[in-house]
Amino acid sequence: MSGVLLVTGGSRGIGAATARLAAAAGWSVGVHYRKDEAAAQSVVEAIGAAGGKAYAVQGDVAVESDIERFFAQTEEALGPLTAVVNNAGIDGGHSRVSELRADALTRLLAVNVVGLQICCREAVRRMSTRLGGSGGVIVNVSSLAATFGGRTGASDYAASKAAVDVFSVGLAKEVSGEGIRVNVIRPGMTSTDMTSSLDEDPKLRARIEATIPMHRIADADEIARPIVWLLSDEASFVSGAHLDASGGGLIV
Ligand SMILES: NC(=O)c1ccc[n+]([C@@H]2O[C@H](COP(=O)([O-])OP(=O)(O)OC[C@H]3O[C@@H](n4cnc5c(N)ncnc54)[C@H](OP(=O)(O)O)[C@@H]3O)[C@@H](O)[C@H]2O)c1
Repeated sequence: MSGVLLVTGGSRGIGAATARLAAAAGWSVGVHYRKDEAAAQSVVEAIGAAGGKAYAVQGDVAVESDIERFFAQTEEALGPLTAVVNNAGIDGGHSRVSELRADALTRLLAVNVVGLQICCREAVRRMSTRLGGSGGVIVNVSSLAATFGGRTGASDYAASKAAVDVFSVGLAKEVSGEGIRVNVIRPGMTSTDMTSSLDEDPKLRARIEATIPMHRIADADEIARPIVWLLSDEASFVSGAHLDASGGGLIV
């Protein structure tokens, strides 16, 4: 698969795995990060060492002008964009609703919802055949939490991901006739920095794994592989879909 792919939050976790596997599949990859430049550069170097092409771009997805800049920088470095994985996201810090704070909620929604939608805008402006582009693919990273309201303390996060799910369906209807496929991946709990507290708390880990039909959390590559499939021509008639990569969902 050739083309230019931008992965937001490509410096760590699911985004880094996606960047590496997509590069191995032939994509030139813009590896976006916010603050961990060393992590982004190590992904770029790993891709280069494996014979692929990648370039690191920085920006906060909660800042519109940053998004405009890092989309432009990706194209300057790698050529016209043909795919975007909107992966950058935060968990909001885990508060029961009784402890919610407006500033933390505002940040959560600015990153997970507004930022993702503005990234989609930038992708559509470049890729839509209606606007002179050549088409492309968008994969938005949601969460299984969107389907059940999240675990205790994550209802705000779950709601932000439900917004991603619904927005993506509407966007797919808008642009599937303009050469752009839009799909959602909904990971279950995955081993990344976002879930590192499980490494320090074996009892919590065991409690969570008992609720997953496969009795384990995912490795980041197990989420990245279906993302790379959604990007590929193998998924040429798939648009507006929500793909759960969750080890079977949640045992209730
Ligand atoms: N891990 C899970 O269990 C799980 C489950 C379901 C869904 N997800 C979703 O999968 C996605 C990736 O999660 P992950 O676990 O791989 O997370 P992670 O390891 O914490 O990595 C998050 C990535 O997002 C970037 N990022 C965070 N805030 C940003 C901002 N304001 N602007 C730009 N970039 C920002 C980070 O960049 P820097 O390193 O430079 O800060 C990093 O590259 C998220 O959308 C998450 O909600 C994760």
